Amino acid sequence: NMAVNILAIETSCDESSVAVIQDGRVIRSNIISSQIEIHKKYGGVVPEIASRKHLEALPFVVQEALSEAEADFKDIDGIGVAYGPGLVGALLVGLSYAKAAAYAIEKPLIGVHHLEGHIHAGFLEYPDLAFPLVALVVSGGHTSLVYLPKRGAYELLGQTRDDAAGEAFDKVARHLGLGYPGGPQIQQAALQGNREKLVFPRAWLEKDSLDFSFSGLKSSVLNYLNQCKMKDEAYDIPDIAAGLQEAIGDVLATKAVVAAKKKKVPTILLAGGVAANLRLREMLQEKAGQENINVLWPSPVLCTDNAAMIGCAAYYKYLRGEFSDLTLNAVPNLSL
Ligand code: KG4
Ligand code: ZN
Repeated sequence: NMAVNILAIETSCDESSVAVIQDGRVIRSNIISSQIEIHKKYGGVVPEIASRKHLEALPFVVQEALSEAEADFKDIDGIGVAYGPGLVGALLVGLSYAKAAAYAIEKPLIGVHHLEGHIHAGFLEYPDLAFPLVALVVSGGHTSLVYLPKRGAYELLGQTRDDAAGEAFDKVARHLGLGYPGGPQIQQAALQGNREKLVFPRAWLEKDSLDFSFSGLKSSVLNYLNQCKMKDEAYDIPDIAAGLQEAIGDVLATKAVVAAKKKKVPTILLAGGVAANLRLREMLQEKAGQENINVLWPSPVLCTDNAAMIGCAAYYKYLRGEFSDLTLNAVPNLSL
């Protein structure tokens, strides 16, 4: 039995990442070139700049990924690439490279849904992770609850109707002058705050709904901030950060546990950049623990955008023969 090596490319937002993944579980390399320093001064990702930076960086990131893996294109069995959702221009850069590479080495092109990638960070971290499970994917771009009855099958149980959880962290952080990306800064500030002092609204939506909404929460926090400023009253950034983190964590953790109970799964897998949030993990563990549900999350480098997770998802598609043809296009709002 020969090993299967996938070269994977991820360019859906502001990370140019390339990985070489062997048999869906060995990370031979996972190079992540972040553009964060460039976008920081604008307070968020500027799409056109992101595309241009991917175009400049990608050939070098590919070289680095191959050399760290001590591999050559002749060792590669398939090219995995995230083709949506994401920024269209950014996706097109990775996709064009992937198509050219697949064509040149005469190996299959394997288009991967970015969320399927985030979920597979869990299968890289825990290769023997059993089905069924519920995944909570929380990042700057998405907030989705996904049911996985078996490998390769996904049922979207709920998603955000407006802002993503990470977006709520980022937007409030920006107004507090905490910088971008906001999630880690809010988490840091919240450590010095009182999480019970400011109780911000939780949008539970309709009974039984597993959807999310964070724009009301964001507005409520910003209103509070503006009120304080108008009345010339002092406000406490750590308390605001702690109150925001608590409101987001409460809704995410509660709904994830409801979803897991509804689908009768023993495991909740946390994924995406916001999975790094320590308070969210704590709340989720507490609520899930009461129902004897296990909670898992991948290590930080696999939680934020990276190509290793795309390579893992691509490997299982490779085994199933789910190949894309060279007409594959970027789909900015691709559904799961
Ligand atoms: O998965 P990711 O790298 O990119 C997207 O696909 O969006 O996630 C980035 C998001 C940002 O919104 C960032 O603020 C958030 O993840 N994030 C956090 C933490 N670390 C990153 N949010 C809360 N707490 C954290 N510790
Ligand atoms: Zn992502």
